[in-house]
Amino acid sequence: MSENINNTTINWSNGHNHPKGKFGNTGIHVMNNNINSSVLKLLDKAEREHDLSIDEIVTLLKVKGDNFTMLCQRADRVRAKYHGKEVHLRGIIEFSNYCHRNCKYCGLRRDNQDLKRYQLTPQEIIEMALEAADLGYKTVVLQSGEDGYDADKIAQIIKEIKEKAGIAITLCVGERDYEEYKLWKESGADRYLLKHEVADPELYHELHPEMVFAERIKRLEWLKELGYQVGSGNITGLPGQDEVIIARDIKLFQELDLDMVGIGPFIPHQNTPLKDRPAGTVEMTLKTVAVTRLLLPLAHIPATTALGTVDPEGRQKALKAGANVVMPNVTATKYRPLYEIYPAKICIGEEAKDCRQCIGGIIASLGRVVSTDYGHSLKHGFR
Ligand code: SAM
Ligand code: SF4
Ligand code: FES
Repeated sequence: MSENINNTTINWSNGHNHPKGKFGNTGIHVMNNNINSSVLKLLDKAEREHDLSIDEIVTLLKVKGDNFTMLCQRADRVRAKYHGKEVHLRGIIEFSNYCHRNCKYCGLRRDNQDLKRYQLTPQEIIEMALEAADLGYKTVVLQSGEDGYDADKIAQIIKEIKEKAGIAITLCVGERDYEEYKLWKESGADRYLLKHEVADPELYHELHPEMVFAERIKRLEWLKELGYQVGSGNITGLPGQDEVIIARDIKLFQELDLDMVGIGPFIPHQNTPLKDRPAGTVEMTLKTVAVTRLLLPLAHIPATTALGTVDPEGRQKALKAGANVVMPNVTATKYRPLYEIYPAKICIGEEAKDCRQCIGGIIASLGRVVSTDYGHSLKHGFR
């Protein structure tokens, strides 16, 4: 199976069909040879040293055609070297769509009056986590809008999931106080996801009214200090963002020494101020994933749901460009349409077991395997 992405011919088929492929079983094969020598040098350097300057990253973020294909191949090779064939699954429970924030891109923002709001009870959340564990998930991600869910209740939920299922727990509930993060860590939470979204303080403030970039970074530092495995990430294609800002995002991933990096395209939502702006592209998202893999070889990088929404093959492409994680939805079906951070989100009508089966098929079709371990950070201290 081959296809054309913006003039780049890539073969996405399982590498096992091409045992003599120049790049082993990456599954991606350059069809013609039009590689720019300065790009090749940069890729060699990135693969060898896992470090590049902002200017060098910008050069890679601007590659096209065969150079883009080569970038994805090199990232895939680094993924294979450090993470092997295993893909970690994290089951997401979207437990509340209330939010007191007003992020300009997000459908859950408080000014969106057109959304029926819901908040799951601790019992419902625990039941969904147990169902995820039964389906073989080794991690659940508890995600919500910034809804002020009672910190003690969250602590109790964490303890009960740990006691009954023994799986890893990632929290993704936004900006909270140090003491709350501490309580949840002591209750057994393993990881925390807080995307910095865009590494430009002014643009950050413009897109997140009432929010300050330094506060975001301060929390990422607290989380690290508290012993969480820390994930952050960005959105590609936000209005006002350019390659230099994305390069700064990637440098920030490195500086924060992240355990996980989530990278997804901006998708305009009809009930937000950004409704008429174009979506982020698949190609820029894949380039960001690939460069991030080259510079952070140990990080866990998901093939995001947002990428799977803008392109039905988006997650597969990311898994071939450096990603090693997928985060299928395990929320009960009746709540899924209400967690509409962007429109046309995939998996809205499916049940948890459908998504588990679907993703298993996708991973197998790429010649990869679903990991059976917890998928903790590969960095020293967490293994
Ligand atoms: N409220 C928490 C927070 O903001 O950290 C967690 C939930 S929030 C819905 C999870 C992520 O959704 C955000 O970090 C943001 O990157 C992403 N997101 C929200 N709206 C989006 C959109 N329109 N397009 C792409 N990603 C979006
Ligand atoms: Fe709320 Fe998170 Fe959406 Fe911002 S991105 S409006 S904090 S749910
Ligand atoms: Fe949900 Fe494919 S992962 S239907």
